[in-house]
Amino acid sequence: MKITRPKPMTASKSEALTGNVRIPGDKSISHRALMFGALAKGETMVSGLLEAGDVFSTAEALRSMGVRLSNQDGLWRIHGGNGLGEPANIIDMGNSGTSTRLLAGMIAGYDITATLTGDASLIKRPMARIMTPLTEMGATFMSRSGSRLPMSMRGSSSLRGIEYRLPVASAQVKSCILLAGLNASGSTTVIEDTPTRDHTETMLCGFGVEVTTETLGDGAQAITLKGGQMLKGCAIDVPGDPSTAAFPTIAALMVPGSELVLPHITMNPRRNGLYVTLLEMGADIKMEHERLEGGEPIADLRIRYNGPLKGITVPPERIASMIDEVPALAMVCACANGTSHLTNLGELRVKESDRLKMVADGLVACGVKLEMGEESLTIHGTGKAPKGGATIQTALDHRIAMSFLCLGFASEAPVTIDDISPVMTSFPSFVETMTGLGAQLAASDEVALDPDGLFLKQTAQ
Ligand code: S3P
Repeated sequence: MKITRPKPMTASKSEALTGNVRIPGDKSISHRALMFGALAKGETMVSGLLEAGDVFSTAEALRSMGVRLSNQDGLWRIHGGNGLGEPANIIDMGNSGTSTRLLAGMIAGYDITATLTGDASLIKRPMARIMTPLTEMGATFMSRSGSRLPMSMRGSSSLRGIEYRLPVASAQVKSCILLAGLNASGSTTVIEDTPTRDHTETMLCGFGVEVTTETLGDGAQAITLKGGQMLKGCAIDVPGDPSTAAFPTIAALMVPGSELVLPHITMNPRRNGLYVTLLEMGADIKMEHERLEGGEPIADLRIRYNGPLKGITVPPERIASMIDEVPALAMVCACANGTSHLTNLGELRVKESDRLKMVADGLVACGVKLEMGEESLTIHGTGKAPKGGATIQTALDHRIAMSFLCLGFASEAPVTIDDISPVMTSFPSFVETMTGLGAQLAASDEVALDPDGLFLKQTAQ
């Protein structure tokens, strides 16, 4: 049994953060570039791919099913189009829900058996949301109780296309079904009442697949594709991830005197809810050199500290476009003048951790007044940075780790997180990037809080 010790880290009050820094590639687009490349005939070349834990999970899973992938100096080449072969062993998806749910959709269309598992965070996350539609299409599953990983599945080369209305707003579930639909007979339609990120639809078109999106009478969107279409290899340049850019952005808005430029970030309207909200709170954020690249709207972001922002009531229908950014926004709300109300947060309970609880517990420990409901959060900002001086549990959640470290750059007393390792999931250069901008971060020898023994379980082999 290998035991990895958590690595606590402390963020302290920092002087103005300044600089121009390239943000790593978008995680959602990176996963899809590898997966769609694996399905496509010929070669797919990908530059700017996010080289981080979650995307490596997708790459390794594809390799274990016979897909040839190579990486030379950051240029990834995928030789696809030969289908998926049966993996010889259990596939470990690490911390990655996107790898698990999208790859399950791909596996569903082949006559192979695969068993998927993950780390102590991923094995707690619900999989019924993909098992139900994929079963209706003709795949079979066996999982741990509560539809949790480990999960074994048997795919079928005679899947049936379905029409499926999403019971939760989830791009992962939408994408899973559409990927299964590529290998199913007839058409597959996914209906979403709340629009979620559309990278699957946009990128499949780039691979030569015909995908149609229709707005129904009740305002819902119906996304349809026909099975049996061939994907053709293409070249993809992955833009910077707005969910990752969120961390330097909120840090700059909380630390007086800061000014940052973050070039080449996707400002896809299905992903930019945080930025829209920060602008409404009065933030000085400029989208410079706006352009369209590979179907994605891109901008260079210039962020300037301009005093405490105003509290905000976030429209519930906006949450889907900022689903991964709520923890980051909550930090800004804690420093803002006035009360902020966030509702429609139910999905946060089933992310890499119960993010609603982790955010609320951490902010309270830092001296912030708030009320948490089953699906809501009300944060009472005072216009001043909170007291801080707490140690925050991260529960293997990269976004909780980075959000609270950013708060520590502004708070009166330092904020310590129990483990920095989860940042490897999406932003491996977080410490280097933030210290390069002037942030105060230091390894801490504070004893880590680990009541669930997550770290030990995670690394037991
Ligand atoms: C993702 C979709 C979102 C998001 C996740 C990435 C994707 O999950 O939270 O980080 O790439 O499709 P849900 O679709 O489950 O909300």
